[in-house]
Amino acid sequence: MRLAGGAVRKQRGAQIRAPEPKALLAWYDKHHRRLPWRAEGVTADPYHVWLSEIMLQQTTVKAVVPYYIGFLKRWPTVRKLADAPLDDVLKAWAGLGYYARARNLHACAKTVADNHSGVFPDQENGLRGLPGIGAYTAAAIAAIAFDRRAVAIDGNIERVIARLFAVEAELPAAKVEIKRHAETLVPQKRPGDFTQAMMDLGATICTPKKPACGICPWMNSCMVRERGDQETFPRKAPKVEGKLRRGASFVVTRTDGHVLVRSRPEKGLLGGMTEVPSTAWSHDFDEDRVIDHAPLKAKWKRVPGVVEHGFTHFPLQQSVYVASVPAKTKAPAGMRWVAREGLHGEALPNVMRKIVIHAGLLPR
Ligand code: ADE
Repeated sequence: MRLAGGAVRKQRGAQIRAPEPKALLAWYDKHHRRLPWRAEGVTADPYHVWLSEIMLQQTTVKAVVPYYIGFLKRWPTVRKLADAPLDDVLKAWAGLGYYARARNLHACAKTVADNHSGVFPDQENGLRGLPGIGAYTAAAIAAIAFDRRAVAIDGNIERVIARLFAVEAELPAAKVEIKRHAETLVPQKRPGDFTQAMMDLGATICTPKKPACGICPWMNSCMVRERGDQETFPRKAPKVEGKLRRGASFVVTRTDGHVLVRSRPEKGLLGGMTEVPSTAWSHDFDEDRVIDHAPLKAKWKRVPGVVEHGFTHFPLQQSVYVASVPAKTKAPAGMRWVAREGLHGEALPNVMRKIVIHAGLLPR
């Protein structure tokens, strides 16, 4: 429920003001991070916003800045990027990781140039579904580039909202409630700045550890500050029972955009479902020997980080390796190629969905 500005909520006897977007925007005007994709005083260029959002999908702000500047210098418009040879884009991307994101970036530039006269759609719906643009990115671009009242919730914003409203539900189930609260906050005026203000608040003040509550513009509106248990929000489901198992998955794409998959055995865990070729999940997984298990010869690169998944009886940590092979490459016995767009139609279990997202093949 929307509380009128200045309304008072009660929390264990203490009176807490409803969070006012205006207070956050005033803080943002003074303290926002100066980032090269942010236009000061004017609406940001959608091309700039899109480029930055794609680069930021799985990479830190600090790492992205030089790449963002380099890309814009070389390809100042979406049409220029669309006309660039894919190889040049991939080379310029080197070091940012997740090459599938660079492929999607180029495919999206081409789609915008060819099918949208070089103009980005200005609504969430139109943006969503362009190559590399999922729900979060569509909302972020709609808000930041077009000042739409779209609700983009990244990890930073999730934390801010969970604390502000003392959301007791655990992630990931809490996402629905967090979104509902966020929707009540987005103002009619300056929703794009508001979105970025929430990002900055989460990144600089409402940090996971030792949040700087004493200088928070919403300090009098936060339902958990008084209690002192800020760091326990957002609540997370307890670790799964059982001993950790580890393994690796191999996400290989052909240059024509097909991905190698196979079906799991009918009997057993995730019976009959689709997976990218993977090692067994074991307690004594040996990462040094992992390439021996790759489905075919290629230049395999490990995607930084791991995918974590909780099965009912054990937690899993999965490394992900990616490679690209020529379009004519044959599928090894028992495996098949599916078009990337066709992955939606496959019986991909959640763990595999996380893995292909981690590999950059599906948007978050
Ligand atoms: N992370 C994702 N999008 C961002 C943005 N626009 N500004 C800062 N951090 C971000």
